[in-house]
Amino acid sequence: MASVDEIKRTWLVNGRRTEVRAVPGRRVLDILREELGLTGTKEGCGEGECGACTVLLDGDAVASCLLTAGQVADGTEIMTIEGAMETELGRVLQQAYMEAGAVQCGFCIPGMILSSWALLKRNARPTEEEVRVALAGNLCRCTGYVKIVEAVLLAAERWNGGKGGKA
Ligand code: FES
Ligand code: FES
Repeated sequence: MASVDEIKRTWLVNGRRTEVRAVPGRRVLDILREELGLTGTKEGCGEGECGACTVLLDGDAVASCLLTAGQVADGTEIMTIEGAMETELGRVLQQAYMEAGAVQCGFCIPGMILSSWALLKRNARPTEEEVRVALAGNLCRCTGYVKIVEAVLLAAERWNGGKGGKA
C-alpha cells in the first residue's frame, strides 16, 4: 500500500513518460536503480564526490545520489546511460572510449560517458582543457584520465566531423 507521505512524479526517463511514487527524500539514484531497473547508474561515494551516479537532468550532468524525488519537478527529462546508448552520440562515445583504451574496470564509465555526452551536446568541438573541466566531477581510479580525454576528443572528431548533429 502506498505510504501517505509519498509524492507522485511524472518524469521523462530516457524519453519515456515514467510515473514514480516515492517519499520526497528518496534518492533519485535509488529510484532509478531499484524501481526502474536502470542499474547502469552506479553508486560510488554516495556523497556527490565521485560522479559514478551521474545522470543528465534536462541535459545537465548531475549527481543522482544527492538528488531527491522531491527536488525533481514533473516533466523533467532524465537521461541515464541506458538512454544515452540509444542515441547516436552515445554510441559514438562508447566506440571512442573502447578504441582509445579508456575503459579499465568500467565503474566510472557510465558517468564519464554522460558527462561527455552533455559536453559534446553543447560544445561539439571542445579543447582538451574543456574536456578536462567537463569531466572534473567524474573520478576514475584506474586510467589516469589521459585515455578518457583522448576518447572524448576522438568522439568529437567523429560526431559529424566535429560539427555536432542529432544526438
Ligand atoms: Fe554520487 Fe559518488 S555516488 S557522486
Ligand atoms: Fe575503473 Fe574508471 S575505469 S574507475
